[in-house]
Amino acid sequence: MDKQRLIVVSNRLPVAISRDEEGEWRIAPGSGGLVTALAPVMRNREGVWLGWAGTGGEVPLGELFERFGAESGYRLQSVPISEEEIEKYYLGFSNETLWPLFHDLLGYCNFDPENWRAYIEVNRRFAEAVAATATEQDQIWIHDYQLCLVGGHLRELGVRQPLAFFLHIPFPSLDLFRRLPWKQELIRGLVAYDLVGFQTLRDRRNFVQCAAALIPELEVISRQRHYTLLRCGERTIKVGHFPISIDYNDFHQKAQTREVADAAWYLHESLSGRQLMLGVDRLDYTKGIPERFLAFERALELYPELRKNLSLLQVVIPSRTLVPDYRNLKELLDQMAGRINARFAEPDWMPIFYLFRSLEPTQLLAHYRTSEIALITPLRDGMNLVAKEYCASAVDLNNVLILSEFAGAADQLGHWALTVNPYDIDGTAAAIHRAFHMPREERRERMQHLQAEVERNDVHRWVRRFLGTMQGGRHG
Ligand code: UDP
Ligand code: G6P
Repeated sequence: MDKQRLIVVSNRLPVAISRDEEGEWRIAPGSGGLVTALAPVMRNREGVWLGWAGTGGEVPLGELFERFGAESGYRLQSVPISEEEIEKYYLGFSNETLWPLFHDLLGYCNFDPENWRAYIEVNRRFAEAVAATATEQDQIWIHDYQLCLVGGHLRELGVRQPLAFFLHIPFPSLDLFRRLPWKQELIRGLVAYDLVGFQTLRDRRNFVQCAAALIPELEVISRQRHYTLLRCGERTIKVGHFPISIDYNDFHQKAQTREVADAAWYLHESLSGRQLMLGVDRLDYTKGIPERFLAFERALELYPELRKNLSLLQVVIPSRTLVPDYRNLKELLDQMAGRINARFAEPDWMPIFYLFRSLEPTQLLAHYRTSEIALITPLRDGMNLVAKEYCASAVDLNNVLILSEFAGAADQLGHWALTVNPYDIDGTAAAIHRAFHMPREERRERMQHLQAEVERNDVHRWVRRFLGTMQGGRHG
């Protein structure tokens, strides 16, 4: 075969599988920017995407994947994960160890050797599935923290071609990474890749520092603008940073449709003259939602003119609710929203509208478009695509982005957003006050710069840059 196929591997397959009212199974591409950006490349390069379907045994995956392949032009392949493995590899090691550790939240970490063993085992199974599918010419691109060790296992299985890895979440400092009892195995697993990509320069530097400190035979050969070159034995490893993005044009165009304009009008209709401040996050303790509620409460205390004139609309998308810390967070948010509303609500004004569910795409765009302020305050975030989606959808340019300095997105958007330290409740309250009073002209100017940045560095460019670096060529 002369075509160099692209094999993409992620924990979850990028599809939504559902059953309609007649009992028919449906399969559709997932809605994320990564899927949108990779789909044309996958079609062109006879791509295969391997991952966990996230469904039970009753789903006719073979039939659905065939239909998906015919419609989308690339193949899906499922890597089955048992109930016990979901508990230990996915909920356990991935989401109770690596997730909090990599987000600098050591206090949430559970270091359980059984979970670690399951993580190795499932990573090996992913590697075996890739090795069984890939030919020597294929390019292999592994995604995210659930699959750090796949590259090392592929090497053991005799796979020789270049392997690339992209980490969607932050990479911690050496001081934190050292706490991981299996730090050696994990860092060596990552060094088995030929290209390791991170979201920010900080993550890239942290990784280089950890690799240099923990692997005695590793040398830093050169530091270039786009990547650092490492040598480990006979091999060289490129370490780069590639801030992921969104399909700007898709958001910007859809936000201008009649359907979204109507939904946006409807949302704001009952609020005549008042402003809306939006938060949209998966249920996650990294997102800083309790701190955000406290900052809004503080703003209502300090700046009484905000009362009856500004509401916080917080959308929380259910996520990982089988992990106890996530369930506890849900309870805390329910309780806090109730308490703050009980303290400040008036018959004709609610301080916090709090939704615990997903939004349909039209509704999400309408929320972005119509909210005068977005309050995005993660304690730490790899990137935060919601911040970029908000800017792309702000078609009236009367919108202010308040953004945590600890979101990867702050590297690109920080200059024109109002940046805050989410732990600084008074500082965040002051930013809310400033955003509320910001004149229309200043909002417009800041948002124009934010949009230009997201438009220039969209997800299509991200894919070109990553694949370009993988192939060793220049990147656009
Ligand atoms: N999103 C979603 N369902 C919703 C609202 C938003 O899937 O009801 C999407 C949102 O559009 C964004 C993603 O969820 O693309 C969240 O990505 P982000 O980088 O902000 O955070 P992550 O969830 O990856 O930590
Ligand atoms: C983050 C991670 C992804 C993950 C997603 C949803 O964006 O970087 O790898 O897929 O959250 O989390 P879940 O645990 O539901 O896959």
